[in-house]
Amino acid sequence: MNQEIKIITNKIVDEKFIKNLHDAFPVAEDNPNWNLQAVKEFVQNNHNKFLAGYVDNQVAAYLYGCISDRLDNKRKKFYVHGLSTKKEFQRQGVMTAIINYLIDVLKQEGLAAIWLLTEPDNIAAVNLYNKTIGNPKDQIMFTRDF
Ligand SMILES: CC(C)(COP(=O)(O)OP(=O)(O)OC[C@H]1O[C@@H](n2cnc3c(N)ncnc32)[C@H](O)[C@@H]1OP(=O)(O)O)[C@@H](O)C(=O)NCCC(=O)NCCS
Repeated sequence: MNQEIKIITNKIVDEKFIKNLHDAFPVAEDNPNWNLQAVKEFVQNNHNKFLAGYVDNQVAAYLYGCISDRLDNKRKKFYVHGLSTKKEFQRQGVMTAIINYLIDVLKQEGLAAIWLLTEPDNIAAVNLYNKTIGNPKDQIMFTRDF
């Protein structure tokens, strides 16, 4: 099994890449509604990061998030907005490799921390984050749709 992690750049984002994302991560499963222009804009913004994990040259997993600006000169933090591993590639260490790779990149860029939210009953995600990120917090999230 040949595993590779790439940070997605504008050069990689084309119709074929978007089709591969649609095929691997159907919108029905809570994945983004992959859109060529939106993905291009996302990766062009240097506060954003979009990583993909490949197994034997097939896209197997993705993670995306952003650096939050601050109102002081403290080091910035990275928020993970979404991530998923295609079912057939789950439990093979792909997302662990992506998160560890991302943490190395963020440290090199001088960031202070990585953070994310998940549902307490998402056992796979909770176990994954305990192993890779740690330090769970007991906080309440509020959200309102418009
Ligand atoms: C959560 C998810 C991203 C994990 O991706 P993955 O590539 O399978 O993760 P890894 O293979 O790196 O697993 C790392 C660890 O996570 C935990 N884990 C992963 N899948 C698990 C499962 N089905 N049940 C219990 N623990 C699990 C294990 O501790 C695992 O280590 P181990 O295999 O040595 O025991 C994947 O299950 C997924 O895509 N789920 C659907 C989307 C989702 O829930 N996203 C998160 C939203 S917050």
